[in-house]
Amino acid sequence: MTVRICPSILSADFANFESELATISDSDLIHVDVMDNHFVPNLTFGLSTVERLQQLAPKPLDVHLMIENVDAWAEKYAELGVFSVTFHAEATENPVALAKRLQALGARAGLALKPNTPVDKFADSFAAFDQVLIMTVEPGFGGQVLIEHTLDKVSQARAVIEQRGLSTWLQVDGGIDMTNIARAAKAGADTFVAGSAIFKHSDRNSQIALMRAAASNT
Ligand code: DX5
Ligand code: ZN
Repeated sequence: MTVRICPSILSADFANFESELATISDSDLIHVDVMDNHFVPNLTFGLSTVERLQQLAPKPLDVHLMIENVDAWAEKYAELGVFSVTFHAEATENPVALAKRLQALGARAGLALKPNTPVDKFADSFAAFDQVLIMTVEPGFGGQVLIEHTLDKVSQARAVIEQRGLSTWLQVDGGIDMTNIARAAKAGADTFVAGSAIFKHSDRNSQIALMRAAASNT
């Protein structure tokens, strides 16, 4: 299985994005957390910052929208030309319709599920998505500890993908580090977001390589 490592710049120095992005050049995708202080109790940045990040980033942007009103906002991110736009299943009435609109704009569409949102409820929608994101912490903040029961959801989501013969990527986000990335891979994840586990090191690319190796040897 192809392993993808996606550093989350939520753990980067927000006043020095240009130099911070240069330190994660060996990543597969660069994970960008957009938070509105409504869907989650934290605020990061919006469209204009993502537009500038898109110009500076050494790798494609994987935008994770933790916002309300995704039906009004998600397409604006796709229009920037980012690689993928992931929104929360809990934030829209019709996830499949929004996925189609994002894909029509050339972006990959991602469906994110919070820790207490059951996989079963959205399994029939997986085929419409390029990637599914199982949150392994409550969204909103970096540096939290992975919630163990979410790995069971990763296994369930992997089973859905296999049983239905889908090519959907399966992403995990939150508390992923060297102590648990192999277990997340074993549960079926192929795409790994890591913020603090990468940015706390001065040599980020070495950490990306270590995480990639740990996820690949399962
Ligand atoms: C949390 C964000 C994550 C966050 C992960 O809501 O979606 O992307 O940056 O950070 P770590 O890896 O430190 O848990
Ligand atoms: Zn995220």
